[in-house]
Amino acid sequence: MVLVKTIKELKKQLNALREKGSVGFVPTMGALHSGHISLVNQAVHENQVVVVSIFVNPNQFNDASDLKRYPRNLEADLKLLEPTGCDLVFAPEAEEIYPEPDTRIFDFGPLEQVMEGKHRPGHFNGVAQVVSRLFEIVKPDKAYLGLKDFQQLAIINQLVRMLKLPVEIVPCNIIREKNGLAMSSRNELLTADERGNAALIFKTLLRAKNLAGTISVRELKNEVIETINKNPFLNVEYFEIVDFENLQPVKSWSEKGKKIGCIAVFCGKVRLIDNIVLN
Ligand code: PAF
Repeated sequence: MVLVKTIKELKKQLNALREKGSVGFVPTMGALHSGHISLVNQAVHENQVVVVSIFVNPNQFNDASDLKRYPRNLEADLKLLEPTGCDLVFAPEAEEIYPEPDTRIFDFGPLEQVMEGKHRPGHFNGVAQVVSRLFEIVKPDKAYLGLKDFQQLAIINQLVRMLKLPVEIVPCNIIREKNGLAMSSRNELLTADERGNAALIFKTLLRAKNLAGTISVRELKNEVIETINKNPFLNVEYFEIVDFENLQPVKSWSEKGKKIGCIAVFCGKVRLIDNIVLN
């Protein structure tokens, strides 16, 4: 496994490796956990060459204090990556990715007007800027992204279609802690008490899955929000039941297509997201 910090070095290393076969890519912001490692393991299993990027992308943080607090530990990340058998770790500085300010504006239409897009203005534009840049640098055959960030996945799929990028996006299952909490780099910021209480999020989503279709969509939404907000550690920012494909809010169970419940919850100062397929 080789650590590279510049685009020039990455391209040099990759050119030598590319002839081995397909290139799998796992973009991350570091503070790696078992969820990331499962993406890397899948990429290693399905490709001959694997690149992992570690870059805390300033452009996707709509909240400066969130960017400042975001956990960073390159040494620990490298320790976790070493046994996976990935080939290259690309950990650039911001100037390497953005030698000049990225002023591109992407229009994802209704897809970005709900949930994360609505509550974190500019977030998906920043994600699109960095992901398109990273794809252009790495030129992967496949890119591995977690289903926890369900809307991000939909946005990146649309980005790939819009820019006609020759990359296959591979959605990867959510990996959970023992108590059900979806793994996230931000979990590191939780106190032990908060972490324990945050388990209620997935527990409530599981209950929502059981209740789906037995009470109205509106009742189910209220039920989930009330249950979680009763816990003094938790504060729901949104819980939406949306169409699995176009992410638009569903009003009735009789609407055709798969439905997914997506949630954002503040646990103290830490914002957590999760989701569950409801039918
Ligand atoms: O999901 C993430 O960690 C980030 O949004 C990504 C895709 C690495 C872009 O910075």
